This record gives sequence, C-alpha cells and structure tokens, in this order.
Amino acid sequence: MTNATDLLHRLTSLLGPAAVITEGADLEPYAVDWRRLFPGKPACVVRPSNAQQVARIVQICREAGVAIVPQGGNTGLAGGAVPDATGTQVVLSLNRMAAIRSVDPVGLTIEAEAGCILKIAQDAAAAAGRLLPISLAAEGSATIGGVVAANAGGVNVLRYGMTRSLVLGLEVVLPDGTIAHGLRKLRKDNAGYDWKQLFIGSEGTLGIVTAAVLRLVPRPKHSVTALLSVADPAAALRLLELAQDELGDQISAFELISATSMQLVARHAGLKAPIAEGEWFVLIEAASSLAGLREAAETMLGAAFEQEIALDGVIAESGAQASQLWALREHVTESEAREGKSVKHDVSVPLTEVPRFLIEAGEALAAGAPGTRVNAFGHLGDGNIHYNVLVDANHDAAHVNRIVHDVVAAFGGSISAEHGIGQYRVGELARYRAAPEMELARTIKRALDPDNRLNPGKVLSA
Ligand code: FAD
Ligand code: MLT
Ligand code: ZN
Repeated sequence: MTNATDLLHRLTSLLGPAAVITEGADLEPYAVDWRRLFPGKPACVVRPSNAQQVARIVQICREAGVAIVPQGGNTGLAGGAVPDATGTQVVLSLNRMAAIRSVDPVGLTIEAEAGCILKIAQDAAAAAGRLLPISLAAEGSATIGGVVAANAGGVNVLRYGMTRSLVLGLEVVLPDGTIAHGLRKLRKDNAGYDWKQLFIGSEGTLGIVTAAVLRLVPRPKHSVTALLSVADPAAALRLLELAQDELGDQISAFELISATSMQLVARHAGLKAPIAEGEWFVLIEAASSLAGLREAAETMLGAAFEQEIALDGVIAESGAQASQLWALREHVTESEAREGKSVKHDVSVPLTEVPRFLIEAGEALAAGAPGTRVNAFGHLGDGNIHYNVLVDANHDAAHVNRIVHDVVAAFGGSISAEHGIGQYRVGELARYRAAPEMELARTIKRALDPDNRLNPGKVLSA
C-alpha cells in the first residue's frame, strides 16, 4: 500500500467510512474558505465524534508525517481553516462534536463541544435565562471551537471583552496526541500557568480545541437599540462620549456604518435605513435590568440633536424594529462580497485616533491606489474598523494592503483586531511585528509542535 492509502485505511478503521470524506464534491465545502480566496485540496476530511478519536487521528497523522488543518464552521475571514493545494493535508472537522453538555444558570457557565454552533449555544443560554455575550454576523455557522481558536470579537466586545475573557476552561488535543484536560468551571484559578490562554487565538496552530467552558452573564431584562446619522467619524466619537455619559456601563454595542456600507446593503440585501441619509451612521445598543434605560436613551438622543452631533436618529419601538436595525449592520459583509472583489483590512487603532486614521488612510489610498472605493464599518466602540477596499481587476491586493497597513502602523495600531492572521496575513504579520515578538511566537510553536504538523503556514510561515 502507498502511504496515502495506508493513512486512509487507518483513519477509516478508526472512524468508520461515513466519517472520512474522500470524494471531490463532498470535499468542496471543506476545501475553500468563506470568501473563496484560498481554494485548497484536502487529502481527506475526517469527522471524529469525541476527543479520544481526535487524539488518535493526531497520532496516526503524526506517524504518517501528515499535516492537520482543524476546521469548525469555516466562516473565518483569514483563510486559516482550509488546507493548502498539495492534496496532502488532512482537514479535521469538529462538526460532529456539537453537544451542549451543561448550562449552569447560577454558576453562570456553559460547557459545549467544539463543533457546537455559536447560535445554538446562545439559545441554550437564553433558554436558561442567561446570556452568552459573543455575537457576530456569522453566529449561525461559526462554532465554539472556531470562536475560541480565533479569539473572536464581534459587536459586544466593548462591554464583555473578546472571547478570551469569557473562556473558563478548555480541553485541547496537543500536536503529540496528548489530551490536556482543563474543563474547569472556576472563576479563580492561579494554580500554575494558565496554559489555556496559549490556545485561545492560536488559530489551530498549537492544539485542537475539543470542548470549552464559557462564562455566561445574567441576561439584562431591557435593551434599547438606536440608529443615528452623523456627519463624520469625529461626530461619531463625540456621540460615543455622550452615550458613555448618559448610558454609562449599559452600552453593549457601538457600531459605525459608512454610507457606502448602507448603499451596499440596500443594493444587495434590499434593506434601507429608516432615517435620513447621511455620510455615516452609528448603531447603539444598551442593555440593563434596571428601569429607565429607554428614558436615558431618549435623553442621549435629545442631547445629540441639541449639540448638533446627530443629524437624524431613531430609537427602536419594539424587538422587531431593533432586529431590523441590526439587520442593516449584519448584512454589510455579505453585501460587500456580492458587490465584487474587495481587499479586507481588520484594523484597530487607539480609539480616539479612528477619525484621523480614516482621513489619512483615505488620502493614502487616493494617492497610491486611485479608483478604489472604501467600505469602512465596524466596532468603533473598540477602535476596530473593517477598512475594506473595493477594487477592480487592475488593483494589486498586496499594494493596497501595504498602503493601509503602513497608515495603521503609523498610528500604533494592529493589522488584525479580531479576524486573525490565517494564511491571508502571514507576510503582513512578519512585516509589522518586531523580530523579538516573532521569535517568541516561533519558540512557542516549536515547543508544542516541533515538526510543524498542526496547521502549517498559518499565523507563521511554514
Ligand atoms: P473556522 O473558520 O472553521 O476556523 C477559524 C480558525 O480556527 C482556523 O484557523 C481553524 O484552523 C481554527 N479552528 C477552528 N476550529 C478549531 C478547533 N476546534 N480547534 C483548533 N482550531 C480550530 N469574526 C470576529 O471576530 N468578529 C466578527 O464580527 C465577525 N463577523 C463575521 C461576519 C461574517 C459574515 C463572517 C463570514 C465571518 C465573521 N467573522 C467575525 C469571522 C469568523 O466568523 C470568526 O472568526 C469565527 O470565530 C470562526 O469560527 P468558525 O467555527 O467558522 O472557525
Ligand atoms: C463584521 O464585523 O461584520 C466582520 O467582522 C467584518 C468584515 O466582513 O470585515
Ligand atoms: Zn467585525
């Protein structure tokens, strides 16, 4: 037998034929990323049903000298979850490991397997009267394992933090096939190194997450959602200050949407903002269990008009109307994809520098890449802007990246606020992170995965 058929034989004996995919059409959804930018070719896709099987797959692939690419919902925007084009890498999908093991409404925890869809975990928390405060437009497909491996952000970060701040415990299969059991439900645990932090945001390059314990929060009884239009990002920042004054720690989302984003959503999703058109929009959500939230939002809106910060605005009258306002924001990414080719930048700069960053990046692009259009939107409350550039066939993506990232670097910002490096930004990370930091990252990778068998070529060059 050849090595490849021997490998397939061993994997099939372990998992059964139904859990090993080898045929062309069935491989397709696992082979290419959500944006279809990185078409790969898997040797096969394996779908284990428990952590012991994951550990055995890792051992078998290790013995065969074959690399593994962990995959959850394959909604990542950096090409981290798909294999290269050599036809030698095994995709390990966690989609059969999707159970919710427990929800504790008093201890405020949820334990779920890695392949559990985020929305299903949110709904389980809601059914217990609690909130799992990780929210992103891909939540209907993204998995708990993928969200942890990517340290996903989303729209609630300004109040609840990144995924990292909600992870209490992890179970991880290491590159040598050992299972690290750390599914603890503790708020306080300083017993030795907090090793789980290494795996959160490591994009499947250091270990395979098989289950997680996440922190829940009490579910706020009331929420209020408002959409306002403002003249420019500087006005949006003044609105944030006003919202902080009037709504305080009850703000749970503060999203910036450009007129271009709104136009794309109107064109491709048929959705229209219910307020007068402007150059920029802000979607604000606040939530609390105390009474008086709506009154505070109305006071904020009144002050925003009085101080000429807002041009127009509306507060949702019902849950249905709030969902309609959110739909405008949630359809931006999909509408942008339908518009055509875009070069994505997922950047952060110090929050108060966002307006100046937007001006300088726009000027740099106009000078260096004429004919491009900017679709800027994102999580202004965290200083995280999705600065996506709509291009045509003549524009060189690497050149556009360089222009935008040089401006980001000049502001002391990050070239990936939440989407990660994957394969899309490997070169950019090496360029913008200093050598000692890159060497530290390589030292960690070497210590855990000396043969570079886990997701090679992602985050760090192969
Ligand atoms: P995948 O795409 O399958 O994998 C992502 C990375 O994690 C890959 O490197 C993969 O190898 C690794 N991985 C997956 N599962 C495991 C595992 N069990 N163990 C180890 N490694 C694993 N992201 C945000 O942060 N904020 C947003 O607001 C946001 N909005 C989005 C909106 C849309 C419409 C889309 C398409 C994507 C968006 N994303 C956003 C990106 C994406 O949804 C998140 O990164 C999400 O966390 C990925 O989950 P997934 O299960 O699809 O992971
Ligand atoms: C979002 O916040 O909707 C996604 O992270 C952004 C993107 O598509 O760039
Ligand atoms: Zn985002």
